[in-house]
Amino acid sequence: MKQSDNPVWFYNEFRQVGTDFNDPAVVAAYDRNQHSSTVEAEQALVEQLGITAGDTVIDLGCGTGTFAIQAALTGARVHAVDVSQPMLAYARQKAIAAGLSDRIRFHHQGFLTYNHNAAPADFVITQAAMHHLPDFWKMVVLLRIATMLRPDGVFYLWDTVFSFPPSEFQAHIEAWIARAAKPTGEGWTVTDFETHVRDEYTTFSWIIECMLEEAGFVIETVERASSVITAYTCRKKCSS
Ligand SMILES: C[S@@+](CC[C@H](N)C(=O)[O-])C[C@H]1O[C@@H](n2cnc3c(N)ncnc32)[C@H](O)[C@@H]1O
Repeated sequence: MKQSDNPVWFYNEFRQVGTDFNDPAVVAAYDRNQHSSTVEAEQALVEQLGITAGDTVIDLGCGTGTFAIQAALTGARVHAVDVSQPMLAYARQKAIAAGLSDRIRFHHQGFLTYNHNAAPADFVITQAAMHHLPDFWKMVVLLRIATMLRPDGVFYLWDTVFSFPPSEFQAHIEAWIARAAKPTGEGWTVTDFETHVRDEYTTFSWIIECMLEEAGFVIETVERASSVITAYTCRKKCSS
């Protein structure tokens, strides 16, 4: 599906909000800045989820492709989806260097526009990407993800999720920025985190958890790295 196939009220997910992942300089610095997406971390996630040869895996908002590559190394068929052409070009080069270009299909589409025209997925993964959408559109995306998965298939969501008491927002946001921001050249900076909070769409945990259930998922594990980051491993209910 292309953006132009949708009604005029439909969200334009190709317009970058917050950090501009269409900027080649942001893309080139990404693997240095994103400390959660190292090869070791993505390999551990592949093992934790139990991805093996023959599985069909969809990575939504794949970025520079580190997870997609580690998943493909198991022999899985991987669909790597992103709205940023520069991100996809960078990820494709990494896949070619790893000898995996025939095992990963790259799609210049997004959460709201990717059409999965292949075997139902065993796993759908999205990390650090869904917060680019407002809540209404996140709900639409969760319904779409449920249709991409086979019954009992696994949906893994890692993202910024606010699990602090809402009235304490100021202290938690300021503590997060103070703790996580790095000097320029070493990681995401204070300005990057400020942009994230101001312009992007992190959701409260109690809202996203209701949305996951409403979309037909059972939440099997909740890993709260902090009051601002959570990973959910969910399973699509057989009946949905
Ligand atoms: C912070 S990066 C995360 C990349 C990777 N998943 C990781 O964990 O390192 C966010 C990615 O989501 C992509 N993105 C933003 N909005 C999107 C959308 N609506 N659909 C798909 N990808 C999107 C951006 O282009 C960017 O590559």
